[in-house]
Amino acid sequence: MSARPRRHDLLTQPLLPRPPLEHIAAGAVLLPGAASAAQDALLAGIAPVIAAAPWRHMITPGGARMSVAMSNCGEVGWVSDRRGYRYDAIDPDSGRSWPRMPDTLRQLAVRVAALAGFSRFEPDACLINRYAPGTRLSLHQDRNERDFAAPVVSVSLGLPAVFLFGGLRRADRAQRIALQSGDVVVWGGSQRLAFHGVMPLAAGEHPLTGRYRINLTFRKAR
Ligand code: SIN
Ligand code: FE2
Repeated sequence: MSARPRRHDLLTQPLLPRPPLEHIAAGAVLLPGAASAAQDALLAGIAPVIAAAPWRHMITPGGARMSVAMSNCGEVGWVSDRRGYRYDAIDPDSGRSWPRMPDTLRQLAVRVAALAGFSRFEPDACLINRYAPGTRLSLHQDRNERDFAAPVVSVSLGLPAVFLFGGLRRADRAQRIALQSGDVVVWGGSQRLAFHGVMPLAAGEHPLTGRYRINLTFRKAR
């Protein structure tokens, strides 16, 4: 694990100058603050999405209620229930299509993917995760997409979090990456199926999101 200060010191970190791109692994980068200027527009963009497709706690195939609250926008949305994980064009809670992906979201995702070296990213799905204090996301792979040529683009908003970025095997040691509001992580190529997760969220108050962290993950699912 690297000894870089940004991984450990959440309090002093925002005061330090940060490089525009930090290498996590081959095919995986952190873009500190790449979405900072767009944060208000992103949150304004998701407000009508949440109004049309409200936060819900999905059920895993094993029957557990996910602690992360979720919604989606785009041509398809990620869903989980007793039948499994998949992408579906229909929101199961409303029976209607998921809200379309706002242009502000799509444009940001395409721009930051290009900064990370993935040009011509064409996201058709944006999963919107909301973490309350104590909420975590256990190590998993994103593997419900149809092909793995396109990267995963992940945008953090609101309360800081510690992102876990592991290897291609579940048992591989995970790096701990401190994420601030406006930070972006992009992974693809040989790391497209890397295990990743989020440590339990620390309580706090953020001017943009209150007591929550909101994460947008853009993917090409179909
Ligand atoms: C995810 O893996 O789907 C979300 C990761 C995050 O919230 O940073
Ligand atoms: Fe994921």
